[in-house]
Amino acid sequence: MKSYLMNDNVKVYRYGQPMETNIVQGRKVEKQGVDEIIKPKFENGKCRFDIKLQPDDMVYGLGGNLGGINKRGRRYESYCTDEPSHTDEKRALYGAHNFFIISGEENRGYFIDFPSRIKYDVGFSQLDKFSIQISGRDFCLYVIEGKSLEDITTNFLKIIGKAYIPPKWGFGYFQSRWGYKNKEEILEVHNSFKEKGIPLEGIYLDLDYMERFKVFSISTERFEGFKNLVASLKKDGTYLIPIIDAGVKVEKGYDVYEEGIEGEHFCKDEDGKPYVAAVWPGDVHFPDFFKEDTQRWFGLKYKVLTDAGIEGVWNDMNEPSIFYDEKSIKDALDLAVESKDKDMDAFSFFAAKDKFENIANKDEYYQRFYHQVGNQNISNDEVHNLYGYYMTKSANFGLSSLLKDKRFLLISRASSIGMHRYGGIWTGDNYSFWSHLDQNIKNMPSLNMCGFFYTGADTGGFGNDSYGEMLVRWLQFSVFTPLLRNHSAIGTQNQEPYAFGEKVTKECKKIIEARYRLLPYIYSEYMKSVNNFKLMFRPLSFEYDEDLAKEAEDQLFLGEELMIAPVYKANHKGRFVYLPEKMAEVTFDEGNERLEVKDSGIHYFNYKLSEFKFYLREDSILPHVASAMNVKSLSQQKLKVLAYVNARAEYNLYDDDGVSYDYKKGKVYNTKIKVAKTSQDYMIEVKNTNPFIKEAEFTIVNSDNKVIKKTIKL
Ligand code: GLC
Repeated sequence: MKSYLMNDNVKVYRYGQPMETNIVQGRKVEKQGVDEIIKPKFENGKCRFDIKLQPDDMVYGLGGNLGGINKRGRRYESYCTDEPSHTDEKRALYGAHNFFIISGEENRGYFIDFPSRIKYDVGFSQLDKFSIQISGRDFCLYVIEGKSLEDITTNFLKIIGKAYIPPKWGFGYFQSRWGYKNKEEILEVHNSFKEKGIPLEGIYLDLDYMERFKVFSISTERFEGFKNLVASLKKDGTYLIPIIDAGVKVEKGYDVYEEGIEGEHFCKDEDGKPYVAAVWPGDVHFPDFFKEDTQRWFGLKYKVLTDAGIEGVWNDMNEPSIFYDEKSIKDALDLAVESKDKDMDAFSFFAAKDKFENIANKDEYYQRFYHQVGNQNISNDEVHNLYGYYMTKSANFGLSSLLKDKRFLLISRASSIGMHRYGGIWTGDNYSFWSHLDQNIKNMPSLNMCGFFYTGADTGGFGNDSYGEMLVRWLQFSVFTPLLRNHSAIGTQNQEPYAFGEKVTKECKKIIEARYRLLPYIYSEYMKSVNNFKLMFRPLSFEYDEDLAKEAEDQLFLGEELMIAPVYKANHKGRFVYLPEKMAEVTFDEGNERLEVKDSGIHYFNYKLSEFKFYLREDSILPHVASAMNVKSLSQQKLKVLAYVNARAEYNLYDDDGVSYDYKKGKVYNTKIKVAKTSQDYMIEVKNTNPFIKEAEFTIVNSDNKVIKKTIKL
């Protein structure tokens, strides 16, 4: 073991000969020393740490995993897995997010830089024991200190580098569905939104736009005149975002396949032949994204899409997901044939059934194919968690090279920390279950802690049938998440905002409009969080030590200004909300906002389906604008400002052109708003460098619930 220091807050312990993952960035200076808390035990090529947990200790982090904000009482596994059924007993999902904080008498953050399986038992097998099992001996352990929980996350975010920044239009509302079959159906969706006056930023294209699931192909039959379609929709303010899967169909004459073979771009099996797995198109080869040459080759393949005017894509099935491989399907079919005409008892029936039922994503598949890392061949299993990361790095390279100064939208399903610099993520295949909305709320701060800011869940739920009430409630939460996408699976109930009758259409429209009204604030908070390495979504317990704050996992601070407390249960007309401090309950009804200041404590707040609510903190300012059909047509000319001020409040509304990288050169707009209470009135000051904002209309409330309105010209 060697130890290093990155800065006063970050120590690194290097065990064995770890692979360079490039997750952490920055210089390390060698230092002597061992960690007094972490005592690794090495056995059978694996490593294990046991950490004692005190009864009140909390464990934060672990990104996109299931469970609460406090991770205690569960087992988790970091091994990127296509796991569509997010039931309670599941341990591994799509991401490998190995940062966590143990918070108690002292707070400390840990990051394990290791590319394969890590198992966490967070006080599950034994209440007071946190066990971590790393399936190897070569890794780096980072110990991150800080003055507070917030400070620890900032110190961690700083060493992994700034998160990906999408274009501003990436913050709009997106409609998606696996099952929009052809151009006509896409146009129908677009027209329906338009007719009903519901804002729409873009439509995600799922598998059906391709020719028989072949990546970088476009079906000429179902999507004839693709380029014109992209152009005409874009002109109308609607972007198309096509899917790209990891596997390349094995098919003679198919250019991507032929080039991949020719350029030796595919992962190999034990015999040195391209490994064959089966995904949507049938047999596929997986690009070896561990080779830079392959990253460049695949990345530039996105040209077929960018040439057609595309400015955003989603990368899927990149755990990589494997339905079956040559050997497993043969075994299963052989057993089925063997069983034919036999009297099968329970054992033989279930054995045959399991062969098919559990055929996807078997551990053994990942041991059967290899990556070229330097001049070594390493099985996917040993570096498994980096596959989706490197695919997204490849896509980011391609899209940056092709679109030059234009920012692009890029999300991936599989991820590990480090990937956050190259793209966002969605949280994978959830279900239209109320519990999955609850999970969505709890995931947001944990994902932020691991560097993922451009993220959100399939709103309305992916699998299973959604229904009107659920969609409305889910939207009431998702309008706060940077990625706002309604996505559903083929065969389920259609889930567009207008799919559930007039009343639901009206409610959905109102909430999506609220997203556009809040967009300047959400964008400002996003950019400030990423640039200043601060969480956008924070648990209440990051600021308040009371048990009630620790347990209020269904409420979140958003930025410094807001607290959100969504309704995520069926048939509820309101909910209990814990206010750790005085706050103004905001009913955000366009042109008719209501603010009502409430004392700290537990309250039952009415929150009807037809309302949209959140809480404004004391001495806070919330800028917003009038809604529009898309980001392009959102006017900031008249800024509206809600403020709850007892002494003085300040807010800096950040903005930039939203499309280029000029913000990196300092080309940004700031609107610095100050409101201070004077003996009789309020003093308002606005220092504005944003040429688009001409006027600010204030609605200010104080603790006596006295509301004052003022407008100032800028
Ligand atoms: C995967 C994705 C899902 C997509 C489907 C078909 O399940 O997670 O979002 O709709 O594949 O491409």
